[in-house]
Amino acid sequence: METKVAIINNINNDIEYLKEAASIIYDGGLVAFPTETVYGLGANALNEAAVLKIFQAKGRPQDNPLIVHVASKEIDELVEYVPEVAKELMDKFWPGPLTIILNKKDIIPNRTSANLSSVGIRMPNSEIALKLIELSGCPIAAPSANISGRPSPTDVERCIEDLNGKVDYILGGMQSDVGVESTIVDCTVMPPVVLRPGGITLEMLKEICNEITIDKAIQGKPDENLKPKAPGMKYRHYAPKAKLKIIKGNREKTIEKINEIVQNYIDNKKRVAILSTEEFKSKFPLGETISLGSENNLNEVARNLFESLRKCDDIKVDLILCQAFEEKGVGLAIMNRLNKAAGFNIIEV
Ligand code: TXA
Ligand code: MG
Repeated sequence: METKVAIINNINNDIEYLKEAASIIYDGGLVAFPTETVYGLGANALNEAAVLKIFQAKGRPQDNPLIVHVASKEIDELVEYVPEVAKELMDKFWPGPLTIILNKKDIIPNRTSANLSSVGIRMPNSEIALKLIELSGCPIAAPSANISGRPSPTDVERCIEDLNGKVDYILGGMQSDVGVESTIVDCTVMPPVVLRPGGITLEMLKEICNEITIDKAIQGKPDENLKPKAPGMKYRHYAPKAKLKIIKGNREKTIEKINEIVQNYIDNKKRVAILSTEEFKSKFPLGETISLGSENNLNEVARNLFESLRKCDDIKVDLILCQAFEEKGVGLAIMNRLNKAAGFNIIEV
């Protein structure tokens, strides 16, 4: 398949590209597009055949439901009922990195919801994404625009790397600002439950509804007794090609441990990358450090996380090491992605 790539620098000047992409969506094709979280791979959410193409292009398991993206808060056509708390969350955080799970109406095909009776809805905070949805005249189902299992793309180059030749159109725009996928909140239960942490933190959600809890499977290694409620969270995910290990403990000890492992690998003629914050870079003289940003700015760390994992693949290292972050604020989302990318390979020191 030939993939057309168009970069949108200015919505008004480049509106023809958006119209072209929108008509592809309307006609049942696939379009990758930027959002503030990560790039998405979109199709008409109401068209079963179009949605099937998403699963095929990504190599995505069919039991993993898609998030439906909308351009307005008027979602009565898509869902059975919007509880008061969901309305408050939408008012506060939409457009933005928050997906709300509600009971779906029949207009949402089972293919989109992977046979669940609920559906995840999100209004992205991206001018390009909102315009694309509006012009398409339909809600857009969109998972992250990566090949299944790989780190999500946060810029158009990474989208092209994964999807060129597999989709009809790739729209490029700004680099994704949040860098990790949306927070998912299940509002089919009361009190609501966070199924995936993201840019809207638990602390922020609790300001709207203090009873909101988090799915226990978010922080632990999923197994028979601990099944995540978001089907997608059970898969190995976000994974670079090299093995990733997380080193957890006090700073002095983790630095010592990392340097010891690096020395060991180097002695065996192997290459190691260290995902490090700016503040700690100089503590790792032997390995190849890739900066995640400042220790004091976890939003920056989240923004750089997936791109840093992909950089490790570019330079073909044998092992990646990363110090654990505190699971507070957006740190919860960062650690959730790191744990999954590492397959819960964690060394405590
Ligand atoms: O930020 C985002 O949400 C990005 C951008 C493109 O909007 N999209 C995204 O989609 O991350 P995806 O497909 O990579 O992740 C969707 C997650 C999966 O873990 C899936 O299992 C869960 O949402 N999910 C979708 N619908 C659900 C439902 N009805 N109940 C429970 N989990 C659901
Ligand atoms: Mg994904």
